[in-house]
Amino acid sequence: MRLSLKSPMAFAAILFVAAGVQSSPALHEKRLHPSDLELSGALAGLPPDSTRYITHDVLMAMPLVSFTESGDTNFTGPTKITGVRLEDLARALGASPASDMVVAICDDEYRANYPQAYLAAHHPVLVLEVDGKPPAGWPKDSQEHKFDMGPYMISNPKFTPSFKILSHEDEPQIPWGVVRIEFRDEKVVFGAIAPRGPHAQDRDVQDGFRIAQQNCYRCHNSGREGGQKSGQSWQSLAVIAGAAPQDFAAYVHDPRASNAKAQMPANPQYDDATLSALTAYFSTFSGPGKP
Ligand code: HEC
Repeated sequence: MRLSLKSPMAFAAILFVAAGVQSSPALHEKRLHPSDLELSGALAGLPPDSTRYITHDVLMAMPLVSFTESGDTNFTGPTKITGVRLEDLARALGASPASDMVVAICDDEYRANYPQAYLAAHHPVLVLEVDGKPPAGWPKDSQEHKFDMGPYMISNPKFTPSFKILSHEDEPQIPWGVVRIEFRDEKVVFGAIAPRGPHAQDRDVQDGFRIAQQNCYRCHNSGREGGQKSGQSWQSLAVIAGAAPQDFAAYVHDPRASNAKAQMPANPQYDDATLSALTAYFSTFSGPGKP
């Protein structure tokens, strides 16, 4: 096992992992099972951006937490969740847990971002069992009731919003269909969408930046960072925000009003100040002289 054991905590966690499956090392270079979790980013003891796989069984041998969830919209009623805290996963496997953020990537290229502040406030858990069952026995998704929610999903033991910016309130990040976890440097991930130009430090631009980190970045990308689910890059949103700010704001508020087939979720709770902060923020990317 090529893991550097940087702290007693990490050592204990890895020993615990190894103890569960004496016959196989904790991380594999190749996928062994469809249910393996892919890991990447800054992995302890490996060159940056290495990819490794960990099995559901090995994850089950890590220190687990269990709780009964009643507010998670992925479930229809009180549900018993067992899994590994993302913080514990980062501590055991990440190269620099103190600066690591955790990024969860889904099979449709949606990404949920867990910066340190979110980890500390909400202690999200990589779900391994639902009501005592492995992924094959999990309920289907709560919206269309036809999708498997495995191989992994993420839940929070309980969720009390920890910040509010204009009318964006901290939202639970509870993706299902998670296939990959990356341990990343928050400064790099959010740095890729830091506002540009002379207005970068303006209050509304900074507010828009914070909101976009938690909302838009799940489905819209900046280069290789951020979600690829929408197929629309930061740059293409910036062009709309700069050239047609009213259309931009209207789309964010209620996509289906302009596009009957829109898949983007609406943000009915966003008031004018919030929409204008997002518009001002995205406009900082739309070329020299803007906004
Ligand atoms: C859950 C995924 C998701 C999130 C989160 C999301 N979008 Fe989108 N967005 C999409 C998809 C998918 C499209 C492509 C058109 C459609 O299906 O709505 C899109 C399209 C758009 C468009 C229209 C582009 C065009 O060509 O007309 C704008 C503007 C936009 N998004 C802005 C945002 C902003 C700003 C945020 C954050 C406040 C955001 N989106 C968050 C998925 C998302």
